[in-house]
Amino acid sequence: MIESKARPAVSLNSVHKRYGTTDALIDINLSVEPGEVVALVGPSGSGKTTLLNTICGLTIPDSGEISISGQSLTNIKHRKTLATLVGIVSQQYGLIPTLPVVQNVLAGKLGSWTNLKSVLSLIWPQDRKQASSILSSLGLDEKINERTSHLSGGEQQRVAVARVLIQSPDVILADEPVASLDPALAESVMGLLSRITQVDNKTLILSSHSPYLIQTYCSRIIGIRQGRIIFDMPISEINDDIFHDLYETNQILQR
Ligand SMILES: Nc1ncnc2c1ncn2[C@@H]1O[C@H](COP(=O)(O)OP(=O)(O)O)[C@@H](O)[C@H]1O
Ligand SMILES: [Mg+2]
Repeated sequence: MIESKARPAVSLNSVHKRYGTTDALIDINLSVEPGEVVALVGPSGSGKTTLLNTICGLTIPDSGEISISGQSLTNIKHRKTLATLVGIVSQQYGLIPTLPVVQNVLAGKLGSWTNLKSVLSLIWPQDRKQASSILSSLGLDEKINERTSHLSGGEQQRVAVARVLIQSPDVILADEPVASLDPALAESVMGLLSRITQVDNKTLILSSHSPYLIQTYCSRIIGIRQGRIIFDMPISEINDDIFHDLYETNQILQR
């Protein structure tokens, strides 16, 4: 049979991840189409970070299959290839504090820090211009040469966003990307991420605890609790009760 549908941007089939006695992800099945902006919501410890890290290959599942743009993660041998497919803004940012901001951003072009020297020799004027333009769209134009450790938490969070934007993978993952930002900045960074997703035909999956930002910028919402997906719906169908149930039932379970 000829498959008429375009291949999904992200596909997970029966993914399971266990840490010791904790099932962090249980039988996760998920398909995300190119162009979707998906919010991942759920209480702390529900598995959001594990799921995002698993989708980008940072965490290896115990079982199950993951494909990005039709390519199985297990078949991708080179980090650079992986970097064209998927990138993540993680909660730890993953920045090298002693380096200037611009070099942390340009590291996104490499996909990894395996060869620091090649990063340092990589700073061509056009790359620098691109980094500068992205930093400027994130309100960081004056910080380009600053030592990264001198930046505030919110500024470092935006450097991590800049790094994934210059990497420009098909699928952008972001783990609470605006958690350290004030409301106005959070809105502008979310706006930028969702605009780039649309303009460059990318796919965005992000975790967030902000109902307002999710409802404003996302097209689909997935609720996760204790490692399981408990709802997956278009953003137009979400309401306050569903949100509250997701978080409150967890508190009852933990009592
Ligand atoms: N590296 C790890 N080692 C042991 N347990 C972990 C590890 N990472 C996550 N977990 C556990 O897996 C569960 C899901 O965690 P996580 O994905 O970080 O949730 P969330 O991002 O939703 O807060 C939690 O019970 C957490 O304690
Ligand atoms: Mg987390």
